[in-house]
Amino acid sequence: MLQKPRGTRDFLPDEMAQRRAAEARMREAAGRWGYGEVCTPTFEHVELFTMRSGENIRQEMYTFEDKGGRQMTLRPEVTASVARMFVNEGRSIPKPVRWYYVADCFRYERPQKGRYRQFWQFGVELIGADSAAADAEVIMVADDLLRSVGLDYDLKVGFLAPMKHLLAGVDPSLQRQVMGHLDKRDLEGLAACLQSCGQADLESSLSGLVSCADPEEAFEICGEIPEADRIRGIFSILEGEEIEYAVNFGIARGLDYYTGMVFEGFAHNLGAENQVVGGGNYRLTHLFGGEDTASCGFAIGFDRVMVSLGAVEAPSLPVVAVLAQTEMQVHAFAVARELRAAGVRAEVNLLERGMGAQLSHAAKGADYACIVGKREAEAGTVTLKDLHAGEQREMTVASAIAEVTGSGAR
Ligand code: HAM
Repeated sequence: MLQKPRGTRDFLPDEMAQRRAAEARMREAAGRWGYGEVCTPTFEHVELFTMRSGENIRQEMYTFEDKGGRQMTLRPEVTASVARMFVNEGRSIPKPVRWYYVADCFRYERPQKGRYRQFWQFGVELIGADSAAADAEVIMVADDLLRSVGLDYDLKVGFLAPMKHLLAGVDPSLQRQVMGHLDKRDLEGLAACLQSCGQADLESSLSGLVSCADPEEAFEICGEIPEADRIRGIFSILEGEEIEYAVNFGIARGLDYYTGMVFEGFAHNLGAENQVVGGGNYRLTHLFGGEDTASCGFAIGFDRVMVSLGAVEAPSLPVVAVLAQTEMQVHAFAVARELRAAGVRAEVNLLERGMGAQLSHAAKGADYACIVGKREAEAGTVTLKDLHAGEQREMTVASAIAEVTGSGAR
């Protein structure tokens, strides 16, 4: 038997209904903040992602040569694509541009619970607003989206400037390594790394930064840096809006394009792969031929959200099985068409089998059986059987519609 590729999943209708229900809530929430949906290609020229996304992502990319000899990549994330699209299409749109997307991404990672090779992101990008208010809005949109589906999670907000300020004297190639150790709270690795580049004296201030509970403590360590007011501004808006968060100046993020504010969210009930959202400020548009434009965004790991939520209530319509013998099938399709026109979910029996077999099959999945026999066809009626209560009555199609639609989801 052929199997699906490692790290991919199949979704049956029940699961898809739950995913779509959660997605619909997030879409509604994003829409209420004024964000409009965009869609970018599933594959892009490889350079789009190699320019600034970073080594980690590069190693995980699905890159292939197309028939024209071009190097293409299945998108490992969507931010670079959205920035490219802004440069290509969005320059004349008044700024700031508020966009969101729901898209599958591809990363060649070692699969485990919550980590897949094909996974979905619900992302938001705010392009062309360079302010504490813009940063705070993006964090609040992420919080609203996650709360809209009822997710329990911890929000951590940081800013790269204090860390970068302390690392100003360190070789840029080593800065990324040091930041990686801080991000992972790997204090042993941090000490060894600083030792190797002759910067051991930075260890206590860097590890102190990670444990700061508020920005003022961080400024005591790194000094009154130029970004201090921006940082204060973000936190004061979050406080004012009563967003629950923790300050964390150790967040470095896995992608290389972040420039300022950074944030992450962690679900309570997931294992190692518990990060459900990540984002921050970045600048990409100038790399793709556009003007340098301040941008800020995040992506929610939609699959992890679904694992964390467990069962999601999805709207379901009552199912009507339209049953008829072969010679009455044309009539059955006509009745089903009337039911569907009234918004009823109607499934016509397609197999040649007796009425008893049709009824017992219908009882496995439908709420009603709508029987179209010769007598009913002549009288312009149907026999509607409530498969839960077991009662049945002959009636007009209009009365059957009224009964079924009045019953609600069952
Ligand atoms: P990221 O942190 O690489 O950021 O991914 C965002 C989220 O996608 C993660 O927090 C996680 O929930 C989910 N995710 C990542 N990899 C996997 C995987 N293999 N399986 C399942 N879920 C996964 C970005 O992609 C940035 N583009 C976010 C952003 C938008 N920054 C600014 N704008």
